[in-house]
Amino acid sequence: MKEKIDSIVTSLNDKIHPDLTLNDLEALRVEYLGKNGILTSQMSLIRTLPNEEKPKFGQWINDAKLSIEHVITEQKNILLTKAMNEQLKKETLDVTMPGLNFKKGSLHPLTLVTQDLEDYFIGLGYKVAEGPELELDKYNFEMMNLASDHPAREMHDSFYVTQNTLLRTHTSPIQARYMEKSKGQPIAIIAPGKTYRRDPDDRTHSHQFMQCEGLVIDKNVTFAHLKETLLGMARHIFGEERTIRLRPSYFPFTEPSVEVDVSYVDSDGKTEWIEVLGAGMVHPNVLTMGGYDPKVYRGFAFGIGLERIAILKYKIDDIRQFYTNDLRFLNQFKGVL
Ligand code: PHE
Repeated sequence: MKEKIDSIVTSLNDKIHPDLTLNDLEALRVEYLGKNGILTSQMSLIRTLPNEEKPKFGQWINDAKLSIEHVITEQKNILLTKAMNEQLKKETLDVTMPGLNFKKGSLHPLTLVTQDLEDYFIGLGYKVAEGPELELDKYNFEMMNLASDHPAREMHDSFYVTQNTLLRTHTSPIQARYMEKSKGQPIAIIAPGKTYRRDPDDRTHSHQFMQCEGLVIDKNVTFAHLKETLLGMARHIFGEERTIRLRPSYFPFTEPSVEVDVSYVDSDGKTEWIEVLGAGMVHPNVLTMGGYDPKVYRGFAFGIGLERIAILKYKIDDIRQFYTNDLRFLNQFKGVL
């Protein structure tokens, strides 16, 4: 019986040769292993055998089946690999064919301004910091020297979510968080991000806008450093011919405080000034609350309105254009910067 089965396997092996096609191999598979195949038909003999010989017989048939399958599959694989290699040899890639035309997007003007500022300040060794938009009163106001009864809170008409949480009204709370985290170590950061105030939405106001905060704390920081830093920034963004003018101002978190104007030449050739940001020396109370001894450490801070920079730089006449995703507007910034 075993000889019979072995001879079936041998007869298949004799039929295998390199000229067989895939179809020939499939026909062989059916001839041996199909429903009425040569090997399959041997299976019916099992009924005629005594019980004790059945398992052994079953095992022989199974081994033979595996061996036949193996031989046929191996030969099929050789053919497939050969066919694939021939196909690859025939196919060449025409690199001169025109490619698919994907529409290119553009960076949003506020992203362009943010990246430009980051470029300048990272070049000076600053780090870029982030903070949450839903902020605690403690960081947004208190640690910025705006206690709960401070009248200047009025200027920041706020969206409160609970008694103690609000949408941040400026990026200054990122300063407070960073000071707390830095545990008395020197700091040089900028912090761009979204801010919110209960302003009406019109050509020049928006309830949501963007700021970029700057904070430097170290032992020998002076007002001269602040001035030079802002002058460099104005020139980086608007051009080397620009200069800046500082006017005394008031912020609860800085003392002294200034508003900073950047020069431009009007159509008559006259030098004019545009206000672009607020800045000052970090108030001793803010330093103390942030964990810095004001007798040892000093700092300067500034807050820039990013829309304002973009409006001046790209001559935009309506702040709402930043937020309405009109492609006719956005497409103008393709390839800028
Ligand atoms: N946080 C201020 C504002 O939103 C801007 C500012 C920041 C002014 C830092 C001075 C120093 O009005």
